[in-house]
Amino acid sequence: MPDINTFYITTPIYYVNGEPHLGSTYTTTLADALTRYHRLYGQDSRFLTGTDEHGDKVALIAASNDETPQALADRVSGAFRAMWPRFDIAPDDFIRTTEERHKRVVQKILQKVYDAGDIYFGEYGGLYCVGCERFYTEKELVDGRCPQHGTVPQYIAEQNYFFRMSRYQEWLVNLLNEQPDLVRPEQYRRELLAFLREPLEDLCISRPKSRLTWGITLPFDENYVTYVWFDALINYVSALDYPDGALYHRYWPGVQHLVGKDILKPHGIYWPCMLQAAGIPVYQHLNVHGYWTIGGFKGGKTDRGELQEAERQEALRLFRDPVALASLLGVDGMRYCLLREMAFGNDLDFTRDLLVTRYNADLAHDLGNGANRAVSMINRYCGGAVPDPGQEFDVDRDLRDAASAAPARAWAHVEAMEPHLALAEAIGLAQKVNRYLEDKKPWTAHKNGDAEGVGTTLYYAAETLGIAASLLLPAMPGKMTELRRALGLGDQPPSASGGWGYLDPGTPVAREARLFPTIERE
Ligand code: MSP
Repeated sequence: MPDINTFYITTPIYYVNGEPHLGSTYTTTLADALTRYHRLYGQDSRFLTGTDEHGDKVALIAASNDETPQALADRVSGAFRAMWPRFDIAPDDFIRTTEERHKRVVQKILQKVYDAGDIYFGEYGGLYCVGCERFYTEKELVDGRCPQHGTVPQYIAEQNYFFRMSRYQEWLVNLLNEQPDLVRPEQYRRELLAFLREPLEDLCISRPKSRLTWGITLPFDENYVTYVWFDALINYVSALDYPDGALYHRYWPGVQHLVGKDILKPHGIYWPCMLQAAGIPVYQHLNVHGYWTIGGFKGGKTDRGELQEAERQEALRLFRDPVALASLLGVDGMRYCLLREMAFGNDLDFTRDLLVTRYNADLAHDLGNGANRAVSMINRYCGGAVPDPGQEFDVDRDLRDAASAAPARAWAHVEAMEPHLALAEAIGLAQKVNRYLEDKKPWTAHKNGDAEGVGTTLYYAAETLGIAASLLLPAMPGKMTELRRALGLGDQPPSASGGWGYLDPGTPVAREARLFPTIERE
């Protein structure tokens, strides 16, 4: 189904000044699920994550901890790398900006852009926020303070190197207009275009070593290190061994980035300009998701009113400790609920109840009960083996039609970067199975000795659940493998190519399928 040959998805590389939390877990889980979706639909796919280790902030924190920046980076990068497998997240590569393979490519690109005349030396004075690692204009400040950190920025004047970003303004506006889905969802494209209505300034891309040494030395002036964003963005190509690597040639044409809205500007403005200046094709899509907020601590009050303090504390605890969230919902439950609950692109206020309610409705009730009912009845009425389907009536055909159409419908949502809707499509099949069982009442047919009717109903129910399980595998690789096994699909590779009839009559099913125990609400 996919048009482009390959799919290459990246997450932001996370700063090493904090441990993984729910925010980075959400992005990385989504990238993992997207990779699995593209593979399920037959596309050659690659998934990159990693850590962003240079810059003022890391240097400052390391100094205050009495350790070297390298030791701090090793420790926290290690924590990220070790965290992801605990959530069944399986990146194909993990890049660190302190690795030689990365530094080499940053220097190569800097030299190329410098030689082309797009980097010049100049003097700049401005208000600098260490937290954001950037200069602010007076207009951007709120009461003279950084809008992100609430701190008063320092005035710094120094000589630095600048990237002639202003030269690319018109080109970028045209690009955003010609490729309306380059940045999605639409609200973020509009935000970029609004920003580009003001003149685009050149970007300061160096820091003098007199002030900061923790960075990549400029290839054309050893008294300077590279600005952390110019360094970090390049990870997406350095990890593919740009410019000559086989991976670069194979995967760059299919590159899509996944980021939170906080870093829209570097990815939507700096990065395309940098790519164009370096003669590298721009990404296929920049996919921007919203923010998980906690009861007004970011993004104001919620529409559900003030949260109870205890509820807020619990939300904060789970936000900071995704391992605790995974032990509450199970790894698969956490993955599903995060991806299903957040409408891609919008913010969402996080609470324990929000996810527990979703878990109980979709997983414990619709999918879990549906699966257990089907499997138990196959044991009770059909000797524990997939029955032969008999004559098909309208109600059966409706279910078969829905199940056969679901893979293409789910794929359309994956391609449009609406992962929440792809999952809704799959769970919708489980809901249909429950209604179908209520309609068909195989227990009555069994009592009446209608073995053929029972066979049809239970075959159709199990087959539909098997299709749902394949479409949910990317979100829940563990539990959906278990479900497919329980239904007798264990040895068959999952398929999302549509159609019907994957279950072979006579194949034994499990004794029971208890996948998602109900969780108490607090
Ligand atoms: N190092 C830069 C990115 C460089 S990419 C070339 C950076 N790092 S970060 O550690 O701050 O990570 C930011 C990203 O973490 C967000 O874009 C998002 O993916 C994720 N999230 C952090 N907090 C989040 C929420 N509260 N909600 C959703 N995602 C969040 O920026």
